[in-house]
Amino acid sequence: MQKKLVPDYVEKLEVYQAGKPIEELAREKNLTKISKLASNENPLGPSPFAIREMTNALWDIHRYPDMFAHELKNELASLYKLKPQNIILGNGSEGIMGYIVRAFLQPDDEVVTSANTFIGFLILAKSVGAKLIQVPRREDYKYDVEAMAKKITEKTKIVYIANPDNPTGTYITKEEFDFLMKHVPAHTIVILDEAYFEFAQSMWDYPDSMNYRYDNVITLRTFSKAYGISGIRCGYGFGHDYLIGNLHKVKLPFEPGTIAQKGAYGALRDYPHLVRTLENNKKRSEELFIYLRNEGFSPIPSVTNFITFKTGSEEASLFLYNELLNHGVIIRPLRANLMPDHVRISLGTKEEMEHFYAAMEDVLPRYNEKFRRPA
Ligand SMILES: Cc1ncc(COP(=O)(O)O)c(C=O)c1O
Repeated sequence: MQKKLVPDYVEKLEVYQAGKPIEELAREKNLTKISKLASNENPLGPSPFAIREMTNALWDIHRYPDMFAHELKNELASLYKLKPQNIILGNGSEGIMGYIVRAFLQPDDEVVTSANTFIGFLILAKSVGAKLIQVPRREDYKYDVEAMAKKITEKTKIVYIANPDNPTGTYITKEEFDFLMKHVPAHTIVILDEAYFEFAQSMWDYPDSMNYRYDNVITLRTFSKAYGISGIRCGYGFGHDYLIGNLHKVKLPFEPGTIAQKGAYGALRDYPHLVRTLENNKKRSEELFIYLRNEGFSPIPSVTNFITFKTGSEEASLFLYNELLNHGVIIRPLRANLMPDHVRISLGTKEEMEHFYAAMEDVLPRYNEKFRRPA
């Protein structure tokens, strides 16, 4: 038999579908006012400190980046009381997930995670032929840690936990994390993907991974969400020297680039911008939750910068999505997460949310007529 150019497990993958870009919608519908509430970005934009650092760095981009990223690693190390050798940087936290897969996963290794979780890591794991064990969620949309623990076997190489989770906005508690860790053997790596950490850290029962020191846990965080610089791609990870040391062996040496390192450094030093971001998020989250409730939906309680709710069918989700697009509001239907009967709304600025509410005023009567007419 002829050998194949591309392994079956790669051929079977589907290309990741990102939120619709603003320019694309503007072109398609000839709209000028667009509110993108689809990719969990920071609606306040980047910190001016980040912009200043990046702008200054432009004069040096004929040079390769600092492959040790001293300045940024030292800043992170002092903020989180770590040693720089326990830190890895990458092109977004997904860049680091790519290193993790390259360094630790082999075909037929098992990855245990929850159903309907962030698909970025799952695509990467499948791309090397690993086997995904996705454990159904609980009724309340939370990870079912008891059921997940039962799926951990000799073959489990990685347990992937998005905490808080995207797209549900739920989180596993300290107690649940402790329970799970009791069932994880030393040869299994736990990835704690804390992309939304900053939004959840004030919850008393949120297990901030900085308070634990497990040799087999890698924490991933990002500058893409609360820090508002997703466009430059910079994420960071913490872990034991042994794991981080091996990740560095497979890492592309000059990721993240100079502009990304500088932007992240600037963003980290602008604490007031982070506070403004969290304050806006809290207010918008409370308002949207109440609005959705009042309109007869059941939003999932979220500790992140987005809220997901059930529409009841894929048709209803797509109706909302398409009708809102006509008004210049981009939300996210969740077919890719195998939740086609749900949609997710990222929290925007006050003005963006008002745009959404005004659009809903037009869309909802038709939505109700079509999908909620009493039998
Ligand atoms: C749970 C989760 N992890 C990781 C990422 C990727 O973030 P980054 O931009 O750092 O690659 C996202 C982005 O949406 C996410 O939701």
